Formats: sequence, structure tokens, C-alpha cells
Amino acid sequence: MLRTMSTHPFPAASASGAAPAVDVADVTVHYGDVLALNNASLSLESGRICGLIGMNGSGKSTLFKTIMGIVRPDRGRVRVHGGSPAEARRRGVVGYVPQSEGVDWDFPVSVRDVVMMGRYGGMGLTRRPKAADHEAVYAALERVELTKFADRQIGQLSGGQKKRAFVARGIAQGASVLLLDEPFAGVDKRSEATMSRLLRELADDGATILISTHDLHALPELADEAVLLLHRVLMHGDPSEVLQAENLALAFGLDVLGGKA
Ligand SMILES: Nc1ncnc2c1ncn2[C@@H]1O[C@H](COP(=O)(O)OP(=O)(O)O)[C@@H](O)[C@H]1O
Ligand SMILES: [Mg+2]
Repeated sequence: MLRTMSTHPFPAASASGAAPAVDVADVTVHYGDVLALNNASLSLESGRICGLIGMNGSGKSTLFKTIMGIVRPDRGRVRVHGGSPAEARRRGVVGYVPQSEGVDWDFPVSVRDVVMMGRYGGMGLTRRPKAADHEAVYAALERVELTKFADRQIGQLSGGQKKRAFVARGIAQGASVLLLDEPFAGVDKRSEATMSRLLRELADDGATILISTHDLHALPELADEAVLLLHRVLMHGDPSEVLQAENLALAFGLDVLGGKA
């Protein structure tokens, strides 16, 4: 297993010394009888983009939900900047771009409302935005180039724009860890490139980014490192190494080699 050190330590990490941004240790998750994660371990450093690769049902979304603290592991431990997922969530450390299937796009909220949700944690019970909240939302919308769509209902955006709205929510929140669950699914190449550029900027600013994708061709350009998941982490290393046919075959079966052994 290859471990890479960050050249951009995020400030939040310094308080706890050498704690990785995300540390998943021997995590096992079942849904009833279904095994989703089996002794999965993964450590991510600040300032890096990590691509998460694995076939449908391999546990990618479950891994995201475990880091978010939405799903509790049966066994094992998750740490985000040295704290529990619950603490990280309270502090707004983790931003989450869910898989499209998990979102009710008819919900009557505007793009601006979605981004403002990133500020709720700091607002208290009244949830009345202050000037600083409006400013943060505006800045986040600018960053993802959605300013002119701010008043649209969230469902009225293109696939790529919806993803950017959720990234803006994470930016407004001040998240230092961003989890993106298949943000390129059903998105055109241009949107994918825009998103990739944005993620690189955020990583350069010190964010830690974990992103699941089926676009293996774009992986070396998108990500600094890659993880092959099949309920457990089969491999974590350089994208070019992870993409070697014999490694992909471990995670996807031999058909990925185009029928050739
Ligand atoms: N809420 C759930 N209830 C029951 N089984 C689930 C649930 N979510 C996921 N699973 C099962 O857990 C396994 C891993 O799913 P998931 O984490 O969604 O994988 P991926 O995102 O890689 O497709 C699959 O077998 C899936 O059917
Ligand atoms: Mg999934």
C-alpha cells in the first residue's frame, strides 16, 4: 500500500498534530444480512484528491455515509481530523455531495437555500441568516459559477449544476473534507471538466477530497491517488498503478479486460 504525505497541511489538522484528515480503520458495516463494508481501512491526507473506484454494490456510498456518521459501523473506527464523525458534523468539517438517487429534486428550495443550509450549523435554533451568512452563500455561488441561478428551484438545474450547488453548500459551510458520491454520473464532459478544475482549486487550498467515479479514463488527471473498493480496500495508491488491468480485474472481475485474460 502506498501512502502519500500532503504538501498542504490544512490548519484544522495542526491542532491534533499528525492526525490524517480522514481515517477509517477496520470498518465493517452490515444492512441486516447484507455485508456492505468488510474491514475497510483508508487514510487520507489534507490537500489531496482521492478517487474511489469500485463496481455497483461494492460499498462506495456506505463508505461515504460512514465517514459522514450517517451509518454507524458494526466494527472499526472512523476519525475526521482526529475527532468522531459526529463531532466533525457538528463543526461542519465534512461537506457531502450525495448520489443523485438519494435526493428529492422536487423539494421546494432554491439553489440559494441549498447553499444556505451549509450555514445552519452556526445559526442557532432560529436559523435566521445574518449578513455574514448571506455573504458566504454569495461567495460560494460565485466560486461554483451558479450566481445567476441562485433563485431557481434546485430541480431546475442541469445534472452538473446540481452537483456544483452541493459543492457550494460545502464551501459555504467551510468544510475541509469534501465527499462526492458519483458527481459525474449523467453529467456531460464539459461539466465534468469544470467540476474537476474546481475540486483541484479546493484541494490546493487544503481541502481533502474523496470522490467516487466510474470515469476511469479521467482518473489520472482528476486524482492524486486512487482506492479500489470491493467491500474492503483492495488497493490504495497512484492512479496509474491502481488502473493496471490486473488490479481492476480484482475489483471488477475479468470482463474489464475486454474478455482477454
Ligand atoms: N439502506 C440499505 N439497506 C439495505 N442494503 C443496502 C442499503 N444501502 C446499501 N445496501 C447494500 O449494501 C451494499 C453496498 O451498497 P453501496 O454502499 O450503496 O454500494 P455502491 O455505492 O458501491 O454501489 C449493496 O449490496 C447494497 O445493496
Ligand atoms: Mg453508490
